[in-house]
Amino acid sequence: MYLNKEEEKMYDGTYGDTVRKSMEILVALGDIYGAENLVNITSAQISGVSYKTIGDAGLEYLQDLAIGQGLNNNPIAKVPSTLNPAGTDLDNWETLGFSSEFSKKQNEIVDAYGMLGISKTCTCTPYLVGNVPRFKDHVAWSESSAVAYVNSVIGARTNREGGPSALAASICGKTPMYGYHLEKNRKASLLVELEVPIKGIDYGALGYMVGKEVGDGVPYFIFKNESTNTELKSLGAALASSGAVALYHVENQTPEYNNAGKNELIEDSNNIFITASDIKNTFENLTNSSKNEADLVCLGCPHASLEEIKEIADIVVNKKIKNDLWVCTSINVKAASDRMGYTKIIESAGGHIVCDTCMVVAPIEDMGYETIGVNSAKAANYVPTMCGLDVIFDDAKNLIKFEP
Ligand code: F3S
Repeated sequence: MYLNKEEEKMYDGTYGDTVRKSMEILVALGDIYGAENLVNITSAQISGVSYKTIGDAGLEYLQDLAIGQGLNNNPIAKVPSTLNPAGTDLDNWETLGFSSEFSKKQNEIVDAYGMLGISKTCTCTPYLVGNVPRFKDHVAWSESSAVAYVNSVIGARTNREGGPSALAASICGKTPMYGYHLEKNRKASLLVELEVPIKGIDYGALGYMVGKEVGDGVPYFIFKNESTNTELKSLGAALASSGAVALYHVENQTPEYNNAGKNELIEDSNNIFITASDIKNTFENLTNSSKNEADLVCLGCPHASLEEIKEIADIVVNKKIKNDLWVCTSINVKAASDRMGYTKIIESAGGHIVCDTCMVVAPIEDMGYETIGVNSAKAANYVPTMCGLDVIFDDAKNLIKFEP
C-alpha cells in the first residue's frame, strides 16, 4: 500500500510508539483488503469499551497505548472520536446495582481512552450528540448499528471497523481506502419491496428478517410509506445484527438511492417481497420467553433519542411501573431529558434513564434478571446469546406493566 512521506514517518516511529503501532494496524488491514492508499477521515467511533467484552487483556492493551503516548508526549486522536457503550453507567453504577469491582475496571478502560484523546461519550448513537459527519466524508466507525446509520442515512463512508482499527484510525486520522470507501462498492445488491406500510418496531422485525437473507449485501428498500430517523436507526441496527449489513438504501429517502443501481436489479431473482404476515411471523420469532411479563424492560437500543424518551415519559406519566425499567441513552441526551422534565416523570414512575451502557454490553445476567423486555430486534437477537437470558420483543407500551 502506498504511503506518503508523512505516513512513512508515522509508520517508522518518528511520532512515537502509539502512532507507530496504530499505523502498523492500518497498513496490515490495507494490505489484507488490497487498499492502494490511506484516506483522511473526519471522525471515529470506537467499540471495544465494555469490560464485559474486552476484559483485563483489553484494559492492559489500552493502558499500554495510553502510557506509550504519554511518554512520547505526541498528539493523539487526530479527529473527533467517541466511544461505544460501556458495561456500566459510569456515574450512577451503584444506584443501578452494578458491582463496584466491575465498575472500577470499566472506569479504568474509559479513562485510558480519555488519555488517548477520545471523548468519554459512550454511545452507539453518536450522530445524535455531535459526532455527525457530512455527506461523503470518510470516517472510521465500528459499532454496527452506527455504521449502518452513518453510511445509509447520512451518506458518509465507513467500513465495519473493529475496535482496534477504529482506534488506530482515530490516532492516525486515516483509514485504508477499500470496501465502502469506494463508490463502486456502494451499489445495491438486491431489492426489498414491501406489500404494506410499516411503522415503529416493524422496522426492527423487517431488518432482522432481511439481514438474515442478505448477509453482507446492500439491500435497496421500496417502502409504501415515509420513515422516521428513529425507524431507520432500528432498521439498520437489526440488519447489522442478524446479517452483516453496513449500508442500505431506501427509495426516495436515503441520500444515495438514486445512484444505487436499482434498474439493473429489477429482474434479479434474489429480490425479496415482504408481506404483512412475514413481519408478524418475525415478531413472534424474536420472543423466546413463555412469560408474559419481563423482570426488566430495557429500551433504547440503539441509544434513545430525546423524542423516544418523551414517548416513554408519555406512557408512564402519573403511573407506578411494576417491572424494572431502563431507558438507555447517552449522557448528552439525558441532560436534555433532565431539562425537559422527562427524566423526572420516568423516575417518579419507578424507571431509570441509564447512561453510557445498554442491555447487551452490561452484565445484566449477574444482576438477578431472568426475562428482559425489549422493543429492539437487535437486542432481542443478542440478549439470549450474549446474556443467556430470555427475551420478550414488543412495543414499549405493551412491555411496561403498571401497579393497579
Ligand atoms: Fe447500542 Fe447496545 Fe443496542 S450498543 S445498538 S444499545 S446492543
